[in-house]
Amino acid sequence: SAYKVAYFVGSLSSTSINRKLSKALIRLAPSDLEFTEVPIDNLPRYSPDFDGSYPPEAQALKDALAAADAVLFITPEYNRSIPGALKNAIDWASRPWGQNSFDHMPAAVIGASIGQIGTAVAQQSLRGVLSFCNARQMTAPEAYVHFRPEMYAESGEVSDDETAGFLRNFMQEFRTHVERVLTVLPRTSP
Ligand code: FNR
Repeated sequence: SAYKVAYFVGSLSSTSINRKLSKALIRLAPSDLEFTEVPIDNLPRYSPDFDGSYPPEAQALKDALAAADAVLFITPEYNRSIPGALKNAIDWASRPWGQNSFDHMPAAVIGASIGQIGTAVAQQSLRGVLSFCNARQMTAPEAYVHFRPEMYAESGEVSDDETAGFLRNFMQEFRTHVERVLTVLPRTSP
C-alpha cells in the first residue's frame, strides 16, 4: 500500500535550492510514496491565544499532517539553526497542548546549503525540536547536501549519477523507516 508523505520546505525564497532538492527527492523516491507539500508561507505567527480557535491556514496544516503517514523536512540552515518560518510552522503543528500532530509520526530531515557543511547544524537543531515533539525520526542515513546548482534541473532531474544515487538511497531508506514505524505504531485515522 502507498504511504502518504507530508513535506515541509523550510525556505520562503522564490529561488530556493531546498525547493529544487525537494523536487529531486520526489522524483527519485520509491513510487509508492505520495507527496503533499505543507505550505508554511501563509501561516500567521503562532500564539497560544489561537489555541481555542485555529485560523484556517493553521487548521489546514493540522489536517494535512493528520491525513499523512509520515513527514519529511527539507530545510536550509539559517544562522546555524532552522529558519524562523519553519519553526513557526512546527510550533503551530505541535499545539494545542495534547493535540501534537507529530506524536509518534515517522519523520526524516534533509537539507541543502551553499556552504560546505550542508545544513548539518540546522539538522541537529531540527532533530532536537522533533525529539521533543515525539516524532519517530530516521537517524541514519544522514544527508547533508552541499548544493551544486549545475547538477539540479528545474524539473528536479539530477544530472550527476552519484548524487542521484545517494538521494535515491536516502528516499528508499526513508520508505523502509516509515514501514517499520507504522508496523509497530499504525496511524489512527483522523
Ligand atoms: C544563510 N546561509 C547559511 N548557510 C549555511 O550553510 N549556514 C548558515 O548558518 C547560513 N545562514 C544563513 C542565514 C540567512 C538569513 C540566509 C539568508 C542564508 C546561506 C544559505 O545556505 C543559502 O542562502 C541557501 O540558498 C538557503 O537555502 P534556500 O533558501 O535557497 O533553500
